Amino acid sequence: MTDETLSNLLHENRRFAPPPELAAHANVTADAYAEAAADPEGFWERAAERLTWERRWDRVLDWDQPPFAKWFLGGTLNAAYNCVDRHVENGLGDRVALHWVGEPADDTRDLTYADLKDEVSRAANTLLALGVGDGDRVAIYLPMIPEAVVAMLACARIGAIHTVVFGGFSAEALASRIEDCEAKLVITADGGYRRGAPSSLKPAVDDAVEIAARAGHEVPHVLVVRRTGQDVAWHERDVWWHETVDTASATHTPQAFDAEHPLFVMYTSGTTGRPKGILHTTGGYLTQASWTHWAVFDLKADTDVYWCSADIGWITGHSYIVYGPLANGVTQVMYEGTPDFPERGRWWQIIAEKKVSIFYTAPTAIRSFMKQGREIPDRSDLSSIRLLGSVGEPINPEAYVWYRDVIGGGKVPVVDTWWQTETGAILISPLPGVTSGKPGSAMTALPGIGADVVDDAGTPVPNGSGGYLVLTRPWPSMLRTIWGDDERYVDTYWSRFKEQGYYFAGDGAKKDEDGDIWLLGRVDDVMNVSGHRLSTTEIESALVSHPKVAEAAVVGASDETTGQAVVAYVILREEAGDGGPEVVQELSAHVRTQIGPIAKPRQIMIVPELPKTRSGKIMRRLLRDVAEQRAVGDVTTLADSAIMELIAAGKAQST
Ligand code: WTA
Repeated sequence: MTDETLSNLLHENRRFAPPPELAAHANVTADAYAEAAADPEGFWERAAERLTWERRWDRVLDWDQPPFAKWFLGGTLNAAYNCVDRHVENGLGDRVALHWVGEPADDTRDLTYADLKDEVSRAANTLLALGVGDGDRVAIYLPMIPEAVVAMLACARIGAIHTVVFGGFSAEALASRIEDCEAKLVITADGGYRRGAPSSLKPAVDDAVEIAARAGHEVPHVLVVRRTGQDVAWHERDVWWHETVDTASATHTPQAFDAEHPLFVMYTSGTTGRPKGILHTTGGYLTQASWTHWAVFDLKADTDVYWCSADIGWITGHSYIVYGPLANGVTQVMYEGTPDFPERGRWWQIIAEKKVSIFYTAPTAIRSFMKQGREIPDRSDLSSIRLLGSVGEPINPEAYVWYRDVIGGGKVPVVDTWWQTETGAILISPLPGVTSGKPGSAMTALPGIGADVVDDAGTPVPNGSGGYLVLTRPWPSMLRTIWGDDERYVDTYWSRFKEQGYYFAGDGAKKDEDGDIWLLGRVDDVMNVSGHRLSTTEIESALVSHPKVAEAAVVGASDETTGQAVVAYVILREEAGDGGPEVVQELSAHVRTQIGPIAKPRQIMIVPELPKTRSGKIMRRLLRDVAEQRAVGDVTTLADSAIMELIAAGKAQST
C-alpha cells in the first residue's frame, strides 16, 4: 500500500454505530473487554464452558515453556461430539445443519444435525475399517460437498488428524503435503463442478500418490466420493465412498481425547519455498472458534441462517464453516460453486432463497461484485441480512461502504475480522453490538486477546503511527507448532520479538489517533492474492525448477480486484534464447503444475538481469514499482543501477 493510500485511509472519518436493536440484545457487551483484561484466563475458562467436556481441565493455561502453549490441561472432549451429537441429544436433531447448494441448478441437499450424526458415524466406522486410528493423518482433497464436512468430523471423531488441501492445488503440491504429514489415507472425489462443467480431482490424487510413493511414502488407501460420475482410473488402493460409508453402521461412540490432542494440520505459505503445516489442537481451538463465531457474528443459533462463502480447503472454512458454526448448532448454507455461475446474481439468489441473516466473505469478492454494478444484487431480496463479515485481506473503505449499503441495505454492521491460519480464530474485529465501525479498520483486539503495533525494537508505537502487528499473550486457538518442525515454529513467529515474548504476525499495521488498528498487508515475502496466501519464494522455486530458467523473482503487485497479483521476472538460460510468447506460456503452465492454478502469474516478464543489492539480495521493492507502473524508487543500494532502466524500458516479454 502506498503512503498516499494510507493517509487517505486514515482520514476516513465515517463511523457506523451498532443498530440499537442489535445492541440491546447483543451476545457480548462492552463490559467483556474490562472483564477479560482483568483476568484473561478466567475469561477463556468461561468460554470453554460453551463446550461439552468429558473431563473438566485442571489448569487453564500452561505457558511454562514458551512459545509452546498448552490450554485446558487435563480436560478431555471429542470435537465431533461437540459439533454434532450433543445438539441431537439436546433435541435439535431435526434442525438443518447444512443447506447444501450444488453448483448445478436444483442440485441441493439438506442435512439435519441427526443426519450429520449418522453420516459422521458411518464415515468414522469406515475410516476405522480402513485402518485409520488415533493420531493417523488423513489428507482430504474434495470439492465443497457435504462429504468434506463429514470427512473432517469423522477424523476428529476417531482422533485422526485431517489435513485438507484446497482443490486448486496441483498433484505436486498435494504430494508434498501428503509426504510431509505422512498421510495414511486420502479422501477425494471423482471430480467437482466448476462453471457448469465437471472438473476432475481423482487424477491429481493418483499422481500425488505415485509421487509420494517414489519419495518413499506409500498411501495404503484412497477413499473416493462419486460426485460427477466421470470416468476415473481405478487402483487396488481405491475404495468408493458409496460402497463403504453408505453401508457402514451409523452407530459409533465417540471417545474423548485430551484437550491438546492434535485436531488438524493446515498447510500455509511461508517465506520460504516449503509450505508450513500449521498444527491446531482440540480444546483451545474449539473453544475459541465457537466463542468468536458466537461473539463476532452475534449469533442467535435458534433463528439465524449463516453463510460463509470460503472454501473448506482454507482456515476460514475450518473455523467458520465446520468447527465454529457446528459447535454452535446453527443452520448454515454451504455452496459448491463459483459466485457468478450460472449467472452473476447466484449468491444473492441463494441469500434470498435461504433467508441468510449472517454473511461472511472476502473483500476480493466484494470488489468484483462492485465492478459489476448494484443492479445485480438489487434484483434479489436481501432483507434477511442482519450482519456482514469480511476476512482475508484489508477491506478498502469503498468496498466496505458498498457492502454495507448494497448487500446490507445501509443498516447492518460490517465486521472486518483479522486473523490467520496460525491464530485459528478471529483475534481483531469489531463487536457488532458494541463497536462503532470505521470503514477499513479491523478496530481492536477482541476481549481476552493482546495485540499491539510495535516498532523495530519491539516498543509499542504511539497512536497515529505504524509498525508491526504483534500478539502479546497466548490465546487458546493459537497454533501449537509447525508439523515436525518446532525450530521453524520458534524462528518464524517468536524470534523477531524474542525479548518481549511477542508473536510476530508478519503484518504491517497502524494505530490511528483513537488507537484503532488498520491492517496494511504483509511485511514479509508472502502475497495475498484474492485472500489466498502465496509465497513469493515458493513460486520462484517453481519457476527456477524449469529447465529454461536461470533465475526468477516474484512480487505481489497491487491489483484492483484481487488485492495483489503475482508478477514474475525471469532470466532465461542462454540456450533457451530470448524467449517469446511460447516460453512465457510454457512457464505459466509450469507454475500451474508445480503449485496449482491459484499461483499462476498475472504477468511473466523475461528480463536480462534482476536488481540486486551488493550483498546479492533481490530488491523486490523495485520490481514491485515496475509491476505497479510507478516511478522506480531509490536505487542507490543497487549493485548496478542501470539494470532498472533496462527492465523498465521493457526488454520484457509478458503474458
Ligand atoms: C491477511 C485468513 C487485513 C493478513 C483468515 C494475514 C487480513 C493473512 C485480514 C492471513 C483482515 C486476514 N484485514 N488483512 N481482516 N484477514 N488478513 O492464513 O495479511 O489465509 O496475515 O488466514 O491474511 O491469511 P490466512
